[in-house]
Amino acid sequence: MFLTDYFVFSQPLYSLATGLIFLFEFNFLVTTIKRLFRLPSGPWGLPIVGYYPFLKDESYLEFDSLSKKYGPVYSLKLGQHDVVVICDWDHLKLAFADESLLDKPHELFFEGLIKYPSFAEMSGEHWRSHRRLSLHVLRDLGFGTSKMEEAISKEIQQFLPTISEGKVDFFEKLLPSVSNNISILLFGHNFKYSDPFKVDLDHNMDRVNRAFQFAGLSAFFPWLFKLSTFLGIFRMSVAYSHVLAVEGLLQKEIDKHQAESGKSEIDDYIDGYLVEQKNRQNKDENDQVYSMGVLRRNLTAFFAAGSETVTATLAWAMMYLVYNPEYQDKIRAEIAEVIGFDREPVYTDRNRMPFTMAYLNETQRIGSIIAVNLLRRASRDTKIGKYNIPKDTIVIFNLWSIHRDPKLWPEPEKFDPNRFLSEDGSKAVKLPYLVPFSGGKRICPGEGLANVETFLYLVNILQKYRVRCDPDVKLSFEATFGVSRRPKHSPPLIFEKIG
Ligand code: HEM
Repeated sequence: MFLTDYFVFSQPLYSLATGLIFLFEFNFLVTTIKRLFRLPSGPWGLPIVGYYPFLKDESYLEFDSLSKKYGPVYSLKLGQHDVVVICDWDHLKLAFADESLLDKPHELFFEGLIKYPSFAEMSGEHWRSHRRLSLHVLRDLGFGTSKMEEAISKEIQQFLPTISEGKVDFFEKLLPSVSNNISILLFGHNFKYSDPFKVDLDHNMDRVNRAFQFAGLSAFFPWLFKLSTFLGIFRMSVAYSHVLAVEGLLQKEIDKHQAESGKSEIDDYIDGYLVEQKNRQNKDENDQVYSMGVLRRNLTAFFAAGSETVTATLAWAMMYLVYNPEYQDKIRAEIAEVIGFDREPVYTDRNRMPFTMAYLNETQRIGSIIAVNLLRRASRDTKIGKYNIPKDTIVIFNLWSIHRDPKLWPEPEKFDPNRFLSEDGSKAVKLPYLVPFSGGKRICPGEGLANVETFLYLVNILQKYRVRCDPDVKLSFEATFGVSRRPKHSPPLIFEKIG
C-alpha cells in the first residue's frame, strides 16, 4: 500500500487546495511586482518570510554582497516589511541629511514582551524630548568635559594593574572597567570589580549584547520572536531573559535614588530623569512618556551602548597591535615625545599624536563594530537620489559597506593607519566617509565619550605595557556579530611591563 492511499482527496477539495495555492502565488507575484515599481529593485525572496532566511548571522555581509548585484541602494522584503538598504557613501550622505528618515520601526526591540520603548526605539516628538533631556543632563554632569575625563583616567588607573599578571582575556577584563565609566554618569558612582551587583549586571548585559541583533527576528517577525522566546529557541530569545535580569538590577538603582527623593542636586542621569518627571507631573503633563518603564529602558540602552561598543573597539585595537608590533613602537614613540612615561595622558595630548589618532581611526574603520545602524523608518514618502522610499519603509544604513568600499579605501581589507595621515605624516586627517557613529540628527550621542575613552585606554596601556600573545598562536580576524562586531577568537594576551 502506498502512503498516498491513506489520503483520499475528493475532487472539490483538490480543486479548492490548488485554487488557494494559485491565489497565494498570484498574490505574491503581484505584490512583488508592485514593490518593484514603488521601490528600488532588489532580490525577490520567498512568500511570507521574504529574503530573511537568506540572511546569515552576519547580515551586513549579505547586504554588502547584494549591493554588488543590485546597486548601492536596493530593496528587499523581510517578513512583512519593505526594506531599503543603503550601501554607498554618496547616497548615505543624502540619507543622513533627510529628516524623514529619523523615525524608528513600529516594532520595539523586544516587541510584544517589553512594552516600554527606550529613546533609541522612539520616533517623533517623544524621541526628541528624551534625547534632549539625556544630552542635557549628561552634559551638565560633565559628559565630554575635563570632569568626565578625570573620572575616566581614575578608572583606568584602577584597571591597569588587572592586566599585568599572566595571560589575560582582554575583553573580559576590560568590560567592567569601561562599564564603570557609564555607571558614573547613570548612577553617580562606579563599582569595585568584585561587587556582586556589578558582576551580575555586566554578565547579563554581555549576554544580551552577544545574542541581540538590530536587523533580527524581533523587528521582522515579532510573533515568531515571541513564540521562540516562549519556547526558548533561537539565539535572539536568549537575550530576553538576560534583559529582564538587567532591568531588575537597574530598578534597584532607581529604587535607591527614589529613597533619597528629598535631595535637590542632580548627581546623575537617574536624578535628572526623576526631576524632569516630577516637573511634568506638576505641570499636569501626566503622560506615559516619562514613566519608570521608559527610565529603565533608557538606562539599559545607555549601559549597553556605553560598555559594549568601547570594549569591542579596544579589543580590535589590541588584536591589530599584537599582529603589527611596529605600530606599538610608533605609538610609544609619540608617547615618549609628547607625554613621557611618568605623567598620566590627557585627551588634549591627541593633538600632537597624529599616528595614534590615525591608528584609532583605522581601528574604527576596519572594526566597523556597529556594522548595520539601528534601523530607521521613513516617516513620509521621500527620495534618496533617484530612489523612491515610500512612507513606512524600513531603512538600513550598511556602514560596513562604506568602510570596505575599495573606491574610498584602496585595499580595504588591509589594516593601514597611514590612510588617515597627511602626506608628510605630521597630521591625522579626518575623512568624512569614516562613519562608525552613523550621521545626521540621530548620530550616536556617545561619540564624544567613546573617543575620549578609546584614546585614554589605548595610550595608558601602551605607556605601561608591551602587548603580545603566545608565539604559536595564529591570529584570526574573524568576527562574531550581535549588537556589535567583536573578535571571534581573541587569544589570551600577555601585557609585559615596560622598563
Ligand atoms: C566606539 C563606540 C561607539 C560606536 C561605534 C557607536 C555607534 C553608534 C551607531 C552607529 C548608532 C546608530 C545611529 C543611527 O541610528 O544611525 C548609535 C546609537 C546610539 N549610541 Fe552609540 N556608539 C558608540 C558608543 C556609545 C556610547 C559610549 C554611548 C553612551 C553614552 C552610546 C549611546 C548610543 C545611544 C543611546 C544610541 C541611540 C541614539 C538614538 O536613537 O537617538 N554609544 N551608536
